[in-house]
Formats: sequence, C-alpha cells, structure tokens
Amino acid sequence: MTDKIAPHDGKLLILTPGMGAVATTFIAGCESVRRGLSRPIGSLTQMQTIRLGKRSESRQPLIRDVVPLAPMSDLVFGGWDLFPDNAYEAAVRADVLDHKTLAPLEDFLSGIKPMSAAFNRDYVKRLDGPNVKKLPSKRALAEALREDIRNKISESGASRAVMVWCGSTEVHLTARSCHQSIEAFEKGLDDSDPGISPSQLYAYAAIKEGVPYANGAPNLSADFPALEDLAREHGVPIAGKDFKTGQTLMKTILAPGFKARMLGIAGWFSTNILGNRDGEVLDDPDSFRAKEVTKSGCLDSILEPQSYPELYEDLYHKVRINYYPPRGDAKEGWDNIDIFGWMGYPMQIKVDFLCRDSILAAPIVLDLALFMDLAKRSKLSGIQEWLSFYFKSPHVAQGHVTEHDLFIQHMRLKNTLRVLTGNEPITHLSESFAGDPA
Ligand SMILES: NC(=O)c1ccc[n+]([C@@H]2O[C@H](COP(=O)([O-])OP(=O)(O)OC[C@H]3O[C@@H](n4cnc5c(N)ncnc54)[C@H](O)[C@@H]3O)[C@@H](O)[C@H]2O)c1
Repeated sequence: MTDKIAPHDGKLLILTPGMGAVATTFIAGCESVRRGLSRPIGSLTQMQTIRLGKRSESRQPLIRDVVPLAPMSDLVFGGWDLFPDNAYEAAVRADVLDHKTLAPLEDFLSGIKPMSAAFNRDYVKRLDGPNVKKLPSKRALAEALREDIRNKISESGASRAVMVWCGSTEVHLTARSCHQSIEAFEKGLDDSDPGISPSQLYAYAAIKEGVPYANGAPNLSADFPALEDLAREHGVPIAGKDFKTGQTLMKTILAPGFKARMLGIAGWFSTNILGNRDGEVLDDPDSFRAKEVTKSGCLDSILEPQSYPELYEDLYHKVRINYYPPRGDAKEGWDNIDIFGWMGYPMQIKVDFLCRDSILAAPIVLDLALFMDLAKRSKLSGIQEWLSFYFKSPHVAQGHVTEHDLFIQHMRLKNTLRVLTGNEPITHLSESFAGDPA
C-alpha cells in the first residue's frame, strides 16, 4: 500500500494552539535534535524499530525508514497564545528546560511568535492575557483562525499543516444539541452558543482547512458527532484526547499486568502535586473535572470488572491533583495500590513517580504530528483509533470499545503501520507452533 500513500514533499507546519510548557519543550527539543545537541528520546517515530516478517528473518528497521514520515529537518512551527511571549520567552517562563539547553536555541525560538488567540475566560477561568482576538461572534473567530492557518502555511513555505492542541484544559463540557450535527454546530457558531469552546473553534477551523487535528487536553474539542462528521466529509484525520504521560501511563502499564496474572485489586489511590501553569488551571474545579474524567476511565476498561467481579468489582479508584507551586513542571505522582492474591491475601504496591510532565509530553506531540500527517496522506479520515496509544481517554467511534491497555494499543499502532506499508500484521501466534518459525 506504500504507493497509495501520497509522498511527503516540502515542509510540514506543526501548529499548536497554546505555546506553554508542552509546546515550547516540544519545539525546543526538535530544534536541539536537528542541531545534533540532543536525542529524541521517547519518540517512536524517531527511535523505534518495527519487526517485519518472522523473527527469524531479522528484519527490524527503524519505523522512520519504512514509513514515509516527514523528516524532522522539514518541520516548521507556529502557534497561538493569549500571552504574547515568543517561544523562547515562553520556554524560559515555563522553566522546564534549563538555561544551558535553551541558550543555544534562543535565535530560533525567538522567531516563533504566537498568533492572537481565540480565547474566552468562561472556559479557562484562571487565565487572562492580552493577545486575544476581539471579534463579535464565534463564527468570526473560527473564520479568523482559518485565515491564520492559511497565512501561516504560506508564510512558512509549508506544503501542508497539522494541528495539536497544547492549550490549557478548558472547563468540563458534555456534548449537547449544538454538537449533534454539522448544521447545528454551524448555527451554534452564528449564535455564539455557549456550548462551543475555543478549542472547538480551533478544531473546526483545522478541519475546514483540511488540517489534521489532535487534542492533547481533556476538554471536549472534536469528540462529538458534528466535528466527527465534518472530519470524514473533508477527509481529515482527528484524534484525542489528553496526552497519556505520567500517572496514567504508569496505570496503563501496571494494570494489564495485574489482570494478566489474575491478581485482584481492592483500591487504587493516585495523588499528584504539580506547580506549573497547567496545575494552576486545574486548580479550578471545572477544569479539574475534565481531567478527572479522562484520568479515571482507564482502569475499568482494562480490568473488565463485569468479567471478573470477584477481582475488580469493588475496586475503589480515586484520583487527586493538587496545585503546589514550588514544584513547577517537576510533578510528583504517588500511587498506592491495594492488591490481593492467592486465597485473598492482601499486598500493597507504592509507586512514587518523580516525573517531568512536559518532557514526557513533548515526544507525543512530535509522534502525533507525524502520524496524523501520514494518516492524511494515506487517506485515512475521521477518528484515528490506532493512535489511542498516546491518549488518556482515546477518542473512538460511537459503539466502539475504548482500548486503554498500553500493550494492545502499541501492537495496534505498529500493525497499522505494517498494513499501511504493505506488510503482514504480526499476531505472535506462529511462535507457538513448532515447524513454523516465528
Ligand atoms: N504535560 C503533560 O504531561 C500533559 C499531559 C496531558 C495533557 N496535558 C495538557 O496539555 C495542555 C498543555 O499543558 P502545558 O503544561 O503546556 O500547559 P501550559 O499552561 O504551560 O500551556 C498552555 C498554554 O495554552 C494557552 N492557552 C489557553 N487557552 C488558549 C487558547 N484558547 N488559545 C491559545 N492558547 C491558549 C495558555 O496561555 C498557555 O500558555 C494542558 O491542557 C494539559 O492539561 C499535558
């Protein structure tokens, strides 16, 4: 099928609504890698290999050597933020990367200035900034974003673009009537319906411009029928939501293991302290609610308590996020897991993850951007469930079951790449049968 994938040519513009800790760590990292100053650790598109054929054939090339992805040398960057700081100033403020890392990149990062944001404090209560569009309706804002996309593509000399939402977590919203069809959504734009948040305006603008859209935050953004239909209609890939980084990454690594070994779980208590701007935004109960929902869903789906009631039906799962400014981006996440084994005897596991949120998120932004661009060139449109690997709360089609198990997600991602490049998917089954070497 490789010949069915439109080739990469020219430059790929990566647009990020939000140019805070995650976006600037991502951009700085890409440039640092391009200059040979760092390694793209954590990125599948840059570092992972993919087995093709049987194990005995020893064919294990790098993903990027088999899959026609845009190379890092051809990436250009742009974004929006309500704060006018350029990417260098924003990175210094975010305080994820130290002076030694940022200083050699200052010339490059200073040249990336945010476009004015479509922003409304009703949706992110803890923030206020001057670099915002002042227009009379949501329709006008969406049209202005579309124009920004077109201008940025031509100004940067790119042949195409992808968009990854790296903006703040908006308040928790659920889909309502304005989200049920394209017509209802467009009427909602004309009426400035309160159900339509700024991130939905960016998603709409991206889709209308043929630009793939991935949502890195937990808010309702493209995960409702109107934008799902619009994405299919315009042949545009969409994906979400909420980057799977620290604690949820750990959870979706550990829980499948407990279940595979038929160990019971009585309780899973997760608490975090974090002090970056994201933590400040999440200190607002409405934004926290959006995060709580995406963080809480994974265990039920992995453990299937309906199939194993005596092991998981009474599991008490609690997630807390505490804003604690001294920590900045260096989050600490504690998990206390009460498990039980043979004859019901209890045991405890404690996980103390001293992580760096944006260091974990940056390679996800890169991989999503490159894979979403690949999806578009492969004519895959609508929801990209094969990219569930990267999300806390994967966006799936109505009626589909969400897969949270990191290992199943990983296999699915790689098999999709195998099929896209005309290779056989790998089931690992042949390894079990003598006479058919794996
Ligand atoms: N860091 C992680 O590990 C991680 C994991 C999962 C999800 N996320 C999500 O990614 C997002 C970014 O995280 P971060 O740490 O970079 O936060 P951040 O606060 O440093 O950056 C977010 C930026 O978005 C801007 N913004 C908010 N609304 C906007 C709008 N409507 N238009 C344009 N800009 C807007 C803010 O001004 C801010 O600069 C958050 O929603 C966070 O919840 C982060």
